[in-house]
Parts: sequence; C-alpha cells; structure tokens
Amino acid sequence: MTPEGFQQWLKHTMGLDAASIGPGVVERAVQRRMSASERADLTAYWHLLRTSQLEQQELIEAVVVPETWFFRDSQAFAALSHHYDPLWAAGHPGERLRALSLPCSSGEEPYTVVMALLDAGFPIDRLDVDAVDISERALSKARHGAYGNNSFRGRELGFRDRHFRLEDGAWRLPASIRSRVRFIQGNVLDIAFLPGEALYDAIFCRNLLIYFDAQTQVRTVEILRRLLRPQGLLFVGPSEASLMLAEGFVSAQFPMAFAFRKAPPKPAADIAAPAPRKTVAAIASARPAPPPRALSAVPRPTAPARPAPQPAPAVDESLLDRAQALADNGRFAEAATACEAYLQTHSASARALYLSGLIHGALGRDNAAEDHFRKVLYLEPCHEEALMHLALLLDTRGDAAGGRVLRLRAQRCRSAATRQESQ
Ligand SMILES: C[S@@+](CC[C@H](N)C(=O)[O-])C[C@H]1O[C@@H](n2cnc3c(N)ncnc32)[C@H](O)[C@@H]1O
Repeated sequence: MTPEGFQQWLKHTMGLDAASIGPGVVERAVQRRMSASERADLTAYWHLLRTSQLEQQELIEAVVVPETWFFRDSQAFAALSHHYDPLWAAGHPGERLRALSLPCSSGEEPYTVVMALLDAGFPIDRLDVDAVDISERALSKARHGAYGNNSFRGRELGFRDRHFRLEDGAWRLPASIRSRVRFIQGNVLDIAFLPGEALYDAIFCRNLLIYFDAQTQVRTVEILRRLLRPQGLLFVGPSEASLMLAEGFVSAQFPMAFAFRKAPPKPAADIAAPAPRKTVAAIASARPAPPPRALSAVPRPTAPARPAPQPAPAVDESLLDRAQALADNGRFAEAATACEAYLQTHSASARALYLSGLIHGALGRDNAAEDHFRKVLYLEPCHEEALMHLALLLDTRGDAAGGRVLRLRAQRCRSAATRQESQ
C-alpha cells in the first residue's frame, strides 16, 4: 500500500483533495495513526482502516482542518440579519426560520447565526439552526459550548460580553442560545445526507469547498442547491465565491458577504459572467480558507426598519468600492486590476492593501498576497486579520515557526487591546 492509496481513500470518503492541505499532512497523519494503532507498516494499517469504522473516523479526525471562530467574515452575518429581520418574521406569521451550518466545525458559526439574529431583534424562538460536521471531536466541543480565546479573533468583541459567561477560564454560552442549534454528525458526500429535511432559508457552507477537487465541488454545490429554498441565501467562503457564479448562482449583492441565491429562471442582464472553470479549480486548490478582515457586525438591539436596498456595484463611486464589489462577485481578476489602479492613484491605506492581499490570495498569487499583507502591517502593526492571513501563507509554504510568531503577535495585540478597553 502506498501513501497515495490513503489519499485516494480520503478523497473518495470525505472529498478531501490532499493537495489543498499539502500531501505531507496526509502522510504524517497516516504515520501517526499507524503508530497509535500499533500497526507495523502501511499494509497492516490499510487492512485495519478497511475493516474498522472506528479507525476510519480516527483518520478523518487526523486530517480535518477545524479552524473557525465567532463572527468569521462577519459581513455574512450582517447580511443574514438584514435579510431575515423582525419585519420578515412579522410578514411570515407562523413560519420558522431554518438555517444550516455545513460544516459547523466546533460550533462557532451556527452559534454566531443565533447571536446575530438575536442581536437584530429576531424572535429566536422561531429559529432552528442545524449544524453538521464530519468530525465527532469538533461536534463534541460544539455541544459543550465553552470556548477559549482562539475562538474570538475580531476587534469587535462586544458580542462576547453580551452573550457569554466566563466559567473556569472558558467562555460559555447560555442554554437559551445553545438550545437553538441541533448538531448532527454527517458527511456531505453521503448519499443519504440530510434525507427528508425541510429546505433551508439560509445555508452557510463556508471553507469546505476549498478542500475539494473540482468534481467534488460541483457535486456538493448540487446538494446545497437541493437543500436551499427558492428564495434562500447561500453563504460561502471568499475563495469559493467564483465557484458559485460558475455553477449558476447569482450574487445576493451584500458587500463582502459572499452570499448567493439560486438564479431566477431568466437571469437579469447585470448578473456577472460565470468565471472560467480553470480559475475555480486553481482557487480551490490554493490553501485553507484565508480569513478576510472581520468587519464589525454591528448589533441592533431593537427591531430595525428594513434597510434600503444595497447599491449595485455598478453605481459605486470610488475605485476601491468598485474593487470590493467585484471581489464580492467573485470577479477577482478585475478586482485586482481595480485595486492596483486605486493604489497607483491614491496613497496606500491599510484597507486598500488588505483588500488587494485578499484578492491576490483568492487568485492563488501567494507572493503578491504576502507582499500586500506585509505592507498592511507596516501601516497597522496590529492588523489582526492581516497577521492571520500571513500566518496561514507562511504555514502553507512550510514556515510553521514564522506562522507561530505572527499568531503570537496577534495574540499580544489582542491582549493589549483588551487591557486598554478595561482601563
Ligand atoms: C475550516 S472548517 C470550516 C468551519 C466553518 N464553516 C467556518 O468557515 O469557520 C472545515 C470543517 O469541514 C469539516 N469537513 C470536512 N470534510 C467534510 C465532509 N465531507 N462533510 C462534512 N464536514 C466536513 C471538517 O471537519 C472541518 O470541521
């Protein structure tokens, strides 16, 4: 049995494209499991794997990337609570709002859905969130509902004070929030995945497709299409946006929310042209999801009026807004051009450089992305999201020590900001 055989098994079983996390990661995971299960060589371990469901789950646990945090890419949650606001609830009497977080990892994402809607005044006794992941380990943490500092990464941490209690050194969510989420162990590629479930008004499928090859991505998108209501919103990760356009979804026009809808029967004229498959595949194989800047999900304690419609990208005045709108639509190449044009005609700002870094990252141009994130840090040494991006880039190229240094720096910045706030 060769190491490639294990890669094939993982691809077949859970869709993992080894190239997306680096083939070395799979190899090391297999070695670890081989010695933990006291098998002398790969052939003996292969036999165990084929015959033991327990070992299959262990190998899956060893390769999953459970990286997540509260209000990750927070514009998505702002868009969700704009769309499904108390007026929506009032206009749909007797209806429940159904959301799905797939994959949910250790629960930060589905709990964020509850907190965002609660803060926006949505009656959460009419909210049901299903949360699915293949990892039992991540789900057990999710069900427990207690979190360390690593789950809180943005600068806006007001939600933590509002919703969590510090208990024995961990931040714990109250039962009123935990009870809104139903955690389910599941593999999105299983034939019987969520059979017979009613459709969802909102689906968060973020930072999963990037680990799949092009064929598995398309298969997964079809499953999501089946699970989404005709008017529902589908949220993906920033690097996954172009895939949605290529598969016939349309942007829901929420800036940097990476939100999509099913295409209406006759697409409107201004729907972005689908990105070529080549780009999608290239982006898909790029790396673990880059964490775009956590924008402030401004909570609205009282019932808000329905917001004015979002301006279409075409009417954006500034070049930078236009670049951002293009990126929102997954049109990364055009967004990169607009961003560069902006940087040539304006003095560099952290926002422009950061956006440019994100766009280059989504295009798989790692060197340019790194260069831009470093420039952001020159202007704003504690720019947390740039630090995290850079750390991921260094990790991906094998510089784990460099990545650790940047994460430590982010942690120090976070502690300093917390100290300042409490003074
Ligand atoms: C990077 S986390 C994403 C969590 C969250 N959606 C976010 O964006 O923060 C990826 C998760 O995908 C899960 N996963 C990987 N393959 C899966 C599959 N075939 N079915 C269900 N979950 C899967 C992993 O267990 C891991 O928890």
